[in-house]
Amino acid sequence: MRVLVTGGAGYIGSHTVLQLLAAGHQAVIADDFSNAKPSVIDRLESLAGQSIPVYRVDLTDRAATTEMFAVERLDAVIHFAGFKAVGESVAKPLSYYQNNLDSTLSVLAAMDAHNVRTFVFSSSATVYGDNPVRERTEDMPTTATSPYGWTKVMSEQVLADLANADDRWRIAVLRYFNPVGAHPSGLIGEDPSGFPNNLMPFVAQVAVGRREKLSVFGDDYDTVDGTGVRDYIHVEDLAAGHIAALDRMRAVDDGWSAWNLGSGDGVSVLALVDSFARASAREIPYEIVPRRPGDAPAYWADASKANAELGWRTRKTLDEMCADSWRWQSQNPGGYPD
Ligand code: UD1
Repeated sequence: MRVLVTGGAGYIGSHTVLQLLAAGHQAVIADDFSNAKPSVIDRLESLAGQSIPVYRVDLTDRAATTEMFAVERLDAVIHFAGFKAVGESVAKPLSYYQNNLDSTLSVLAAMDAHNVRTFVFSSSATVYGDNPVRERTEDMPTTATSPYGWTKVMSEQVLADLANADDRWRIAVLRYFNPVGAHPSGLIGEDPSGFPNNLMPFVAQVAVGRREKLSVFGDDYDTVDGTGVRDYIHVEDLAAGHIAALDRMRAVDDGWSAWNLGSGDGVSVLALVDSFARASAREIPYEIVPRRPGDAPAYWADASKANAELGWRTRKTLDEMCADSWRWQSQNPGGYPD
């Protein structure tokens, strides 16, 4: 298949591009580079041993988006592009709704106009909101606790309505748990701009000496050691989930379907810190600070639907996630070159 990967220069998108190519598909990247450095493309091309078509495009620009479909003969789209910082979305709701919803609608309209109706959507476990049930299943009601989360819930709804209205659409909604890790080469990985919001990049920056210490947000939750528990998933396993979803859509017509992509295991903040300290052979200084407002105590995936229907499961351990994050961080202490 010739697959358009929106946000293909980003963290998860870039790893997925490599796996698409390795699986014999063709990949076309669309990215506005608002949160990615162009040098990632050189790394991708050298790892893949081929050149990759790249469109620098703002997907909320309908004319530019449609033009891409007129030029490229595409079979499917994997839609990663979007703003993704929870805290920033609370401060700038209009910007999040405008960017994330407009770009999704623009891509879908361009697809429809060009008879491309196979779509994989980057969703998130955030759509389960603050449900007290810790093991998340796809049939739980969706809701949100931030504008970012609402853009995922709303986009999922648009996609469900579309599949309902027109049975030519095949739509896979992939709900990611906490993606971490990096390509084993150490050449591509997560490169957050500014202050990292998420745990793993923060820990990695402490280990490499860019930050003094980690703040652990609360140690009085009802969990194994009192710290927050999440389901961390290696980005390589996550990327593989997208290839599995494309394979599924070629074989089976589910219309719209959602799959959790997680390991099924809950890992505490301190367990991750411990694993990272071993992987990096560095100490990770930390201090316990008050809980971060809005944080859930603990949740993880029930990944049995993806196991059964996509034939997919995670393969990489927490130690491998940390080892690969560390390799990326230590080889690229300042992230991608400008
Ligand atoms: C957040 C997002 C989620 C997104 C995910 C990406 C919500 C509300 N937030 O999830 O949408 O998909 O990132 O991975 O859904 N922690 C610390 N210190 C830090 C940073 C984090 O102790 O400096 C703790 C947190 O309290 C939490 C755990 O580490 O228990 C993971 O936090 P984080 O990496 O930010 O991810 P989430 O909040 O789970």
